[in-house]
Amino acid sequence: MSTPSAPDAEQAYRHLRVEQEGSALVVTIDRPKALNALAGELVDELQDVLARAGAALADGWPFRAVILTGAGGKAFVAGADIREMSAMSPDEAQEYSRRMHRLTLDLERLPVPVVAAVDGYALGGGCELALACDVVFASEAARFGQPEVSLGLVPGFGGSVRLQQRVGPGMARELIFTGRRIDAAEALRIGLVNRVLADRESLLEAARETVELIARQAPTAVANAKLTLGAVAALPTEDGLAVEAASFRDAFTTDDSRAGRAAFLAKETPSFPGR
Ligand code: COA
Repeated sequence: MSTPSAPDAEQAYRHLRVEQEGSALVVTIDRPKALNALAGELVDELQDVLARAGAALADGWPFRAVILTGAGGKAFVAGADIREMSAMSPDEAQEYSRRMHRLTLDLERLPVPVVAAVDGYALGGGCELALACDVVFASEAARFGQPEVSLGLVPGFGGSVRLQQRVGPGMARELIFTGRRIDAAEALRIGLVNRVLADRESLLEAARETVELIARQAPTAVANAKLTLGAVAALPTEDGLAVEAASFRDAFTTDDSRAGRAAFLAKETPSFPGR
């Protein structure tokens, strides 16, 4: 059997770079002239990377997490592409919103964690893209915001739902109604980001270290935990606990859990088969 490989060294993208670094699949959005704004073609490329990543993970664990970042030193993603949006009809705008919903749902369904490494602007759709990632790390230069109302628009890429889930309804309302930009320290304070690092280099280093920590854990257990956390997020307590009990049961069917429990009792470091 051939060893599954990460997507996709040979695949050429116009606006993305995709590289494997250790256990991480590093996806870098690289459209610096427009501060990495989410043009349709770029959205298609991201969707293609996720499809290939999902396929690669379906028969192995060629990487254990994704790091999503932006190139150019100024922006993670400066939002939807305002130039493209200015020509859209209402129906086309709705379809654009749905495309981004599919993309963000696919990020959430990936059976490995996604770490957003935000350096510079994460505005509008950029903030919403980060919100669909499991973990958000930021450099001190990061700036977050949902400025749609300043364009006469509203969040369309998941912000109405995920910003509330991440920072609570009061803070989400303040940020969305004012369009105010916040710095990394405030984003940390309100729980929008997990960690703030001094600069880009230490940001990427922290993201890679986190991925290597994840890579030491049982692959099926991390996947199970991610999918369970996503599934229970909007459920009433008792429904969520029922899902958790079923996931806990599932964990007991895996070779990973057998290996993990046996290694603990034998005082050995576990070697997880990944199934
Ligand atoms: N869509 C399309 N192009 C964008 C963009 C976006 N969301 N954000 C930036 N760009 C382009 C600019 O038009 C400019 O292109 P040009 O050089 O051809 O004129 C280039 O990126 C650099 O941006 P600029 O505005 O000159 O940089 P700045 O440092 O002065 O300001 C921002 C940076 C992020 C504050 C500013 O670009 C901005 O407000 N962008 C829009 C953010 C936004 O509202 N996003 C939500 C959309 S719903």
